[in-house]
Amino acid sequence: MTMATLSSAFLFIFSCFLACSISVSGRPATFLEDFRITWSDSHIKQIDGGRAIQLILDQNSGCGFASKRRYLFGRVSMKIKLIPGDSAGTVTAFYMNSDTDTVRDELDFEFLGNRTGQPYTVQTNIYAHGKGDKEQRVNLWFDPAADFHTYTIIWNHHHIVFYVDEVPIRVYKNNEAKNIPYPKFQPMGVYSTLWEADDWATRGGLEKIDWSKAPFLAYYKDFDIEGCPVPGPANCASNPRNWWEGTAYQALNAMEARRYRWVRMNHMIYDYCTDKSRYPVTPPECMAGI
Ligand SMILES: *[C@@H]1O[C@H](CO)[C@@H](O)[C@H](O)[C@H]1NC(C)=O
Repeated sequence: MTMATLSSAFLFIFSCFLACSISVSGRPATFLEDFRITWSDSHIKQIDGGRAIQLILDQNSGCGFASKRRYLFGRVSMKIKLIPGDSAGTVTAFYMNSDTDTVRDELDFEFLGNRTGQPYTVQTNIYAHGKGDKEQRVNLWFDPAADFHTYTIIWNHHHIVFYVDEVPIRVYKNNEAKNIPYPKFQPMGVYSTLWEADDWATRGGLEKIDWSKAPFLAYYKDFDIEGCPVPGPANCASNPRNWWEGTAYQALNAMEARRYRWVRMNHMIYDYCTDKSRYPVTPPECMAGI
């Protein structure tokens, strides 16, 4: 074999390798590959050949969608462009939920709208084995309606991390060794909704929704779920070779830890861990550090 045929053979194998892996995982997926509309068909429009969607909130309805499957561990991310201008009283949520009433597991991102020029608030919450009430709030350091930003939840045997772009805004460690509940047994679906909640969302309900600004529009794209589908291969969730279980994902790296501290010092406006009126005794998971 000459050098040229060898290298073209190599190139062929290499590009097949790329193409084949792309066609297998196919990420990011179109909306309908992984999701279905769960609330108000007329208020979710597919755009760009189904690669993006527009969510609509007006006086008739909000809307919602959910993943077709449920997953046990993995990473979920999507790019979201939130409602511009006066979004006070609106809530856009992106969350994972076990869909089990009694022993609910849930990982929440909730984007609370605001008056024009006032910062959007991101509220996160975690339910582990039915116990929630772990709210934290961060005011975003950019205008999330000006552009798409990536919102990610990574969930593995070591921790759960909520990311805004490359910045971790919340970490919940697996501290089962200290008897702290950790979501580990129930698969979770991926959900999103856009609705009106002006009784609590903005400045605790003081700012009401201004319907003269309707319709309120949010955009989503680059849907990416990588995890163990349930039902699915039986040994997937416990396989330590899943990429999301790898060393790089078992704890924050130095850069991420720096960014996380920066958010907590400069942008965190509420933390249940330090709310003495709700929790005279600091909840044990709050003592575990990052
Ligand atoms: C809205 O803006 C006010 C004033 O800047 C701020 O205190 C609040 O945290 C913001 N977010 C919400 C959801 O009210």
